[in-house]
Amino acid sequence: MKKALGLFTAGALMMALAACSSSGTPAASGSAAGGAPNKALGDIVVGFAQVGAESGWRTANTKDIQDSFKAAGIQLKFSDAQQKQENQISAIRSYIQQGVDYIAFSPVVQTGWDAVLGEAKAAGIPVILTDRAVDSKDTSLYKTFLGSDFVKEGKEAGDWLVKEYEGKSDAVNIVQLEGTTGSAPAIDRGTGFADAIKANPNMKVVASQTGDFTRAGGKQVMEAFLKSQPKIDVVFAQNDDMGLGAIEAIEAAGKVPGKDIKIITVDAVHDGMQALSEGKINFIVECSPLLGAQLIDIIKKLNAGETVPQRIVTDETTFTQEQATEALPNRKY
Ligand code: AHR
Repeated sequence: MKKALGLFTAGALMMALAACSSSGTPAASGSAAGGAPNKALGDIVVGFAQVGAESGWRTANTKDIQDSFKAAGIQLKFSDAQQKQENQISAIRSYIQQGVDYIAFSPVVQTGWDAVLGEAKAAGIPVILTDRAVDSKDTSLYKTFLGSDFVKEGKEAGDWLVKEYEGKSDAVNIVQLEGTTGSAPAIDRGTGFADAIKANPNMKVVASQTGDFTRAGGKQVMEAFLKSQPKIDVVFAQNDDMGLGAIEAIEAAGKVPGKDIKIITVDAVHDGMQALSEGKINFIVECSPLLGAQLIDIIKKLNAGETVPQRIVTDETTFTQEQATEALPNRKY
């Protein structure tokens, strides 16, 4: 009996050792539990599951990520989910099967990620959230979340509006163009904006609908609002593209954007800043798409066995018309 136990223990030990690399770290790539992979940068493979190409912001974000990986010499596998969660889940599963070292992704919507993130964790592949958050209670499913504070962005948009109408008690009718339903920026910007204006009973969101973060969506929803709403004073578009679509609809209805109807947007991409500089948009809250360099930094740190903070918030600002005119010549996107 004693001999049998001894053989069993030795076998178990050998199996455990076989599961480790020569440096004593688990053999699975990415080595989530302890020990640094310490790979040469050129040997690291990262799978990135992008949301889609819905906006100028997204185009700038994709370019920045691809450029940053090229500059760092880290291999990038890139997929575009065309704004569909099922496509993103398939892309992540395919990255797991291919045994990439890290998975980074910007979730289309907040919910429904626990299963696939659990699979990545079981495979020992660290996951990095960029731009948008997931609502998973289990924060061990990802290493960090790098991106903007969307609630703050919505609040800054609302704060500007409150200041703009300071001392006036006339009704201010606001229409809101929401981003993709269920996405973190749509939920959080809506929350922040509502919070900022709530102490002003004269300010009312009279209509709110999704334009899916696209220019065509913003135009279509605004056309409908212009028909259904007798008086619109302000548009809060949760991104520049929807705001630009709204401008087209407002002009087609014979009104002057920025004057007859004030427009506030989020992003500060080139076309939005141009419209702000021309007075067609009144205020923009910046949301920076330049996340590539910080993502590379996170990967380098994880590769070296360093810990990274669970949340990394992007630095951002806001723009008035004058500030947009000044910033435009040096704007990267
Ligand atoms: O998640 C960031 C948001 O997604 C940007 O504000 C928007 O333009 C994009 O589509």
